[in-house]
Amino acid sequence: MYTIMPNIEKKQATSISTHNKVISLIDQLYISQSLQRDEFRYILNHITQVEKEYLFQKAFAAKQPYYGKKVYLRALIEISNYCTRGCKYCGISRLVKTVKRYRLTEEEILECVDIGYTLGYRTFVLQGGEDPYFSDEVMVELIREIKTKYPDSRVTLSLGEKEYASYKKLYEAGADRYLLRHETASKRLYEKMHSEDMSFEKRIECLWNLKKIGYQVGAGFMVGLPTQTNEDLVEDLMFLKELDPHMIGIGPYLCHSDTVLKGNDDGTLDQTLVMVALTRLLLPKALMPATTALGTLSNTGREQGLLAGANVIMPNISPTEFRKLYEIYQNKICTGDTSVQCRGCVELRIKRFGHDIDLSVGDYFGL
Ligand code: 5AD
Ligand code: FES
Repeated sequence: MYTIMPNIEKKQATSISTHNKVISLIDQLYISQSLQRDEFRYILNHITQVEKEYLFQKAFAAKQPYYGKKVYLRALIEISNYCTRGCKYCGISRLVKTVKRYRLTEEEILECVDIGYTLGYRTFVLQGGEDPYFSDEVMVELIREIKTKYPDSRVTLSLGEKEYASYKKLYEAGADRYLLRHETASKRLYEKMHSEDMSFEKRIECLWNLKKIGYQVGAGFMVGLPTQTNEDLVEDLMFLKELDPHMIGIGPYLCHSDTVLKGNDDGTLDQTLVMVALTRLLLPKALMPATTALGTLSNTGREQGLLAGANVIMPNISPTEFRKLYEIYQNKICTGDTSVQCRGCVELRIKRFGHDIDLSVGDYFGL
């Protein structure tokens, strides 16, 4: 009879000490903005719902001194779904033969910018697959036109890997920021997720080059990639701390049935939010989007992202007719909406969850 009680007590005692340890590691991270690998691993291996709520509160608190409850808006223009790269998770990689390809003309892009500017946006993100049509010459011209017409705006590029000299030309033409997610900081996983012509080292080098040139740089990763472990996610945190980027995009992996990874599970909302929150505590000044992928995974995913420390939303301003074709994952939100609809929708969502929209250029804190 008496044998049961001591066991229960022992079990509770262990879980209380685990709880206390996770909480104290979160506190330590909040205070010192750093942790060791094994400490991050401990959190990821042991965190439960109670500690998650504590973590999200701390992450929310960590952005307050720099950005308060402000959420910066960036207008996203998906300029081309042509891509020469072989990312196995991505629905527009060259490996996917079923997708109908499109590219916007320069006029169409400039028209999007005009509409975006009228809607109040002051950052324009030109994103696309690695499409040789958008050569340095074409991009330089486009960047110059946007910056000449709207000198009070910022141009962000998200066009993949380029040579140092190309990044520099685009920077000198007036591009302010560059988004290039590292995708995963685990070399093993990176190699598993990409075709053989892609190199982990080259990816990382691109990020350092962008920083050196003077861009505000965005890195980031996916959560829940097939075979990804907590150790891999710890590597993402360690890498981000070292790179110290201005922007960090974190989203769940969402399985696309036309890719070679078909049949795999999606990343989860919870794990993605945990990674957003840990990253916020590690790099409290970072600009972090509540990603479209989070919004696709759950109707309130982006809002939950904001509560877990994110502070940017990137509404789509691509022409509605092309949106469905920029299908990096399936069921992507906003593909049937217009730029005006997304502008209104996003504002309502941000306000409903106790945040304020900020339509300024929203540079990195202190710049
Ligand atoms: N699921 C989630 N995110 C994806 N991306 C590409 N494919 C997927 C997918 N299937 C992300 C990558 C890329 C960004 C533009 O979108 O991280 O850098
Ligand atoms: Fe596009 Fe809500 S943000 S419809």
